[in-house]
Amino acid sequence: MDGNGRWARKRFMPRGVGHKAGVDALVKVVQAAADRHIGFLTVFAFSSENWKRPEEEVSGLMSLLLVALSKHLVKLKADGVRIRVVGDLANVSEKVRNALLEAQAATVDNSRLILTVAFNYGGRWDIVQAARQAMLAGVPADQLDEATLSRYMAMNYAPDPDLFIRTGGEVRLSNFLLWQSAYAELYFTDCLWPDFDDRELDKALASYVQRERRFGDVGSSGEGEGAIGSGDDNDDGRAGTSDAV
Ligand code: IPE
Ligand code: MG
Repeated sequence: MDGNGRWARKRFMPRGVGHKAGVDALVKVVQAAADRHIGFLTVFAFSSENWKRPEEEVSGLMSLLLVALSKHLVKLKADGVRIRVVGDLANVSEKVRNALLEAQAATVDNSRLILTVAFNYGGRWDIVQAARQAMLAGVPADQLDEATLSRYMAMNYAPDPDLFIRTGGEVRLSNFLLWQSAYAELYFTDCLWPDFDDRELDKALASYVQRERRFGDVGSSGEGEGAIGSGDDNDDGRAGTSDAV
């Protein structure tokens, strides 16, 4: 969800106003995703690198999270949204941690849309914490494979993402869901996050349905036709297919 600061600056307003508008955009996008029967939506709310921002902005983001949860939790819960949090919660304030854990607990019975909030999250952090947990669980080195490590990743409850959307014009992953996005379709848009709405979501989904997902296979059209295992109907293809290129 990138571009809040620039959205505010264009309006000669402080960055915090952009973050606030970003929350409003998120609430609408969650609704739009649920209406479109999307089962999992994962948002990068605060990265492990965002601590580098001026202290005033960091504390503004933390208060905004608390305000946003108290303002929107009841409706999200009523709408069937289950909130899950991934990230290093040991290193956020107790207030923020408790608010996030309470949101999780309050929505635990919902299943219409799983909204994962990545908070103090980093893709590399996730891989390292998974490796550590596997070691602590006594997984022997020669039994540690992709499927095993996946079970220790923070999002072990979710399928790998099909579509990775980045707003705000930058064309990089910035340490988001590195492991899980191995086969995600990437979609980059100049749209600043506070302007992202159901129409923008539909544009991203329209782009997604044009893609041919091969998961390392040769696909059903073109050069590889007739080759063993060709066919793009491998719709349960997941990261971990060994012939990926
Ligand atoms: C992203 O918007 C929001 C968070 C990191 C929480 P930015 O704050 O990065 O906005 P720009 O990139 O400065 O416009
Ligand atoms: Mg940014």
